[in-house]
Amino acid sequence: MSRYIIEGGRPLEGCLRVKAAKNSVLPLLAASILTEEKVVLRNCPEISDIKNMLKILAGIGCAIERDDRGNIAIDSRDIYCEQIPCVLAKELRSSVFLMGPMLSRMKRAKISYPGGCEIGMRPIDIHLAGLREMGITIDEESGYLDCDATGARAAQILLDLPSVGATENLMMASVFTPGVTVLRNCAKEPEIADLQNFLNAMGARVSGAGSSMITIEGVTKLHGVAYTPIPDRIIAGTYMIATAMCGGFVTIEGAIPEHISSLTAKLSKTACKITCKNDKIIVRSKGRSKSLERIDTMYYPGFPTDLQTQMMALQTISRGTSVIAENIFETRFKTVPQLIKMGADITVRDRTAVVKGVAKLHGAQVCATDLRGGASLVLAGLAAEGRTEVKDIYHIDRGYEDMAPVLSELGADINRVV
Ligand code: UD1
Repeated sequence: MSRYIIEGGRPLEGCLRVKAAKNSVLPLLAASILTEEKVVLRNCPEISDIKNMLKILAGIGCAIERDDRGNIAIDSRDIYCEQIPCVLAKELRSSVFLMGPMLSRMKRAKISYPGGCEIGMRPIDIHLAGLREMGITIDEESGYLDCDATGARAAQILLDLPSVGATENLMMASVFTPGVTVLRNCAKEPEIADLQNFLNAMGARVSGAGSSMITIEGVTKLHGVAYTPIPDRIIAGTYMIATAMCGGFVTIEGAIPEHISSLTAKLSKTACKITCKNDKIIVRSKGRSKSLERIDTMYYPGFPTDLQTQMMALQTISRGTSVIAENIFETRFKTVPQLIKMGADITVRDRTAVVKGVAKLHGAQVCATDLRGGASLVLAGLAAEGRTEVKDIYHIDRGYEDMAPVLSELGADINRVV
């Protein structure tokens, strides 16, 4: 099993470039089966969540080509299967995104309950309720969802919660539905607007993404497209926090600074100086700084849950006490025992963690338990005194491309060993 070995205590200095956002590429890959023509997505990272999604697409009959510059071409002309293989769906929660496009394209979809990060219950009731409102029938039998969209019609759908995945799934499910489908209480994450732009570039008529109401006017056909998804705001944010923790001077290129403004606002209250210019975010940090009093995760444009654990790692070595409230996923504090192993002082009660900053963390043997938590352990290791070993880094590989080479390039002492 691969692991990271980190000798902590080095400042970070240099430049890195972010690639396309995992959370955009995954729904876009699913949406690519909405046309029989070829779709190309550019600038995609080499991460295992994308590899698994490509395996699923290949499993239903798509021809896929991938080059070493991050271009992925999907040709779904010969799709022959309306069932997502159970093993693959269990590995990747995003396989649920395929329900909408499959129902649009083939009017049938059979999928097992999806897996993914073990963070909270992650139900899909909002996806299913929306599809049922559209007249799609769903039989839930022995772990499978058997869906039939032959009677699908335009609908007015009010989402119980602004779920990112449900918003995306319903947008994709309704692109061909005659009439006008209206979704209310939608998620406003930038990845939703990216999906809208992608669908419209293929000939769809979707508007309103980024606001809480999205309107989809049914069209009869979509065509192929070459598209560059938005950059990964969570990757940019992770390396911003890494710089804040280690001290140094790092330029992140290829980003959209506005997408990460909730983090910039927080870090600017510490000893970090952040300058944004076009697609560049420049972070200067003198290292240890005062704690942030409160961090509350919230739907976009609030503070993202996907950066909560990395921010917690920063708070463990800040001066003072910080209260972190996790409002999106109930079990996103699974990394806390690992951080405590490294000398952190954290108390968790329900969905709130109280972090008392210590002068330094020390190296330890720790285990990644999920994607973002794993990244936060790497950050803690970079800032700690001594040697840290992070095990089970396959979790990190789901979303971070080449984490060790990227950080080594910035001056960190980190190696991947098998
Ligand atoms: C997406 C992101 C994930 C991010 C999350 C929140 C992708 C591939 N993943 O996940 O990285 O952490 O948004 O920003 O884009 N919920 C329900 N019923 C549902 C659906 C969701 O109760 O049918 C709840 C969830 O349990 C959670 C909240 O709604 O408490 C938000 O979930 P959602 O926005 O759907 O997250 P994902 O789309 O799974």
